[in-house]
Amino acid sequence: MELKQMAPSIHILWLLSIQFLVLVNGGKIPAIIVFGDSSVDSGNNNYIPTVARSNFQPYGRDFNGGRPTGRFSNGKITTDFISDAFSLKPAIPAYLDPSYSISDFATGVTFASAATGYDNATSNVLSVIPLWKQLEYYKNYQKKLRAYLGDRKANGVISGALYLISVGTNDFLENYYAIQAVHRNTPSKNTKTSWLGSPQVSQRNCMNLEPGRYR
Ligand SMILES: *[C@@H]1O[C@H](CO)[C@@H](O)[C@H](O)[C@H]1NC(C)=O
Repeated sequence: MELKQMAPSIHILWLLSIQFLVLVNGGKIPAIIVFGDSSVDSGNNNYIPTVARSNFQPYGRDFNGGRPTGRFSNGKITTDFISDAFSLKPAIPAYLDPSYSISDFATGVTFASAATGYDNATSNVLSVIPLWKQLEYYKNYQKKLRAYLGDRKANGVISGALYLISVGTNDFLENYYAIQAVHRNTPSKNTKTSWLGSPQVSQRNCMNLEPGRYR
């Protein structure tokens, strides 16, 4: 299928999954917490030194106020629509945006960073936020949330939230063959270290963050 034809069908798939999520949850979740790349970054990259930004026209021309927000979109991004569908915020704020605080992040936050990937080597290419660092920010967020809402309420938000992860395409785009630096840093097929070690590490990291541990 050509790319042009694929784009709308991917969009429809997203919409269907949103409707499904809203139905199974009865439309009630306390927050949406997002990790990933440009598909779900709402402006974090504006606050780190990288060229991977979308803080100029025509980005954001259909967004509220017609200003570029750091979203790689003319308007809202998928996660904003999901948030809206759950009657949470109309748009999910970026964790590094100083104009928002924990009171905003309590119902939705994104740690995503455009141009990042599962692999450290991918995020290194444009000096963006690696996935492990997004998890560090998330740990930090948990602490702030507990200070803001109290342990019991915060744990309810953390365990009841919808978690969305959209990442991986940049690992292909900036891949083993395309970029020599990645090639050099990639262990050969024979070594025991897996190139895909990072998602496993991240997954373990997430599991260790299970709210019960903090009670
Ligand atoms: C990615 O980088 C971090 C920080 O330097 C490091 O702790 C982690 O082990 C790296 N992950 C992999 C899979 O190499």
